[in-house]
Amino acid sequence: MPDERRAISLTGIKPTGDPHLGNYIGAIAPALELAADGAHESLYFIADYHGLISTRDPDELRRSSRSVAATWLAAGLDPTRTLFYRQSDVPEIMELTWVFTCLTAKGLMNRAHAYKAARDRNAEAGQTDLDAGINTGLYMYPVLMAVDILIMNADVVPVGRDQIQHVEYAADLAGTYNHLYGDRGFTFPLPKPVTSADSTSAVLPGTDGRKMSKSYGNDLPLFASTAALKKIVRRIPTDSVPVEDPKDPDSSVVFQIYSHVAPADEVAATAERLRAGGMGWGTMKDLLHEAMETRFRPMADRYDALMEPGSELDTILDEGGARARERAVDVLTQVRRAVGISR
Ligand code: TRP
Repeated sequence: MPDERRAISLTGIKPTGDPHLGNYIGAIAPALELAADGAHESLYFIADYHGLISTRDPDELRRSSRSVAATWLAAGLDPTRTLFYRQSDVPEIMELTWVFTCLTAKGLMNRAHAYKAARDRNAEAGQTDLDAGINTGLYMYPVLMAVDILIMNADVVPVGRDQIQHVEYAADLAGTYNHLYGDRGFTFPLPKPVTSADSTSAVLPGTDGRKMSKSYGNDLPLFASTAALKKIVRRIPTDSVPVEDPKDPDSSVVFQIYSHVAPADEVAATAERLRAGGMGWGTMKDLLHEAMETRFRPMADRYDALMEPGSELDTILDEGGARARERAVDVLTQVRRAVGISR
């Protein structure tokens, strides 16, 4: 009888700028819920080598790798239940990437969304060379991502919609490997994408009503100071319905954002007050600001502590890295033997 192992759920988190409410509601909170349900063994890692594709500033890359790790820990990731590590602490990933690079049809990379999107941007900008300014890291990163997934024997991969294709590539490459070398004692599970985490992020509006996104500059930072956050909330545009008049909560961006942050009973009571009239948008903004403070101030304090040099953040990641590496060494050893590199 084969061992009954718990299915493995794995996801990579790219280092980005400071986290905002959209990241939290759309990705972090649902992923942490998934990790806490215990149905899967969960692995989360900081994809710092992926960050190198777009970041040339070493201090910025280092800072944002730590920042994203601190965010997830502050948001409640429990490193005793989730294996949490930095990609770069598992150098076997790089070695296995070469093996898989040699199994990957170049045409598959030509069709990858991120690369095609970069070429489309060049076309729109009137560039004659559609590959202008595109580094080979961007071109090849689906292989690196496939290896992130495969080296940990992951079965399910929670991702946003834009990443589904890459998980399908990983399954494809696992199939190729299994077909060529599967009779040599070791096969990879075929990973499946799961996308529930993405459904909410589509509906969380930013301060201008479009989807909340750093690139639109319409985001609410999770860990801003009380005063800075207040300023941003104050500036959210509202209509000019007078204070006394009844208002439609659902047509207000302030209310919609608030409804994702405040407890359900308070949201219902506030909707009533708006519909009844007598409550102005200034008050509504104060309620949003208070709800943000109540929910995120403790998290922000924890984040600040973790960001201090020499905090437990480093120990947690070092320990996670060592455990992740053991798994990777095991897989790589078998692959090296199977493909004819080692005896
Ligand atoms: N490419 C993913 C992103 O841009 C991050 C990532 C890297 C990832 N490796 C992964 C996600 C492995 C899932 C599994 O968001």
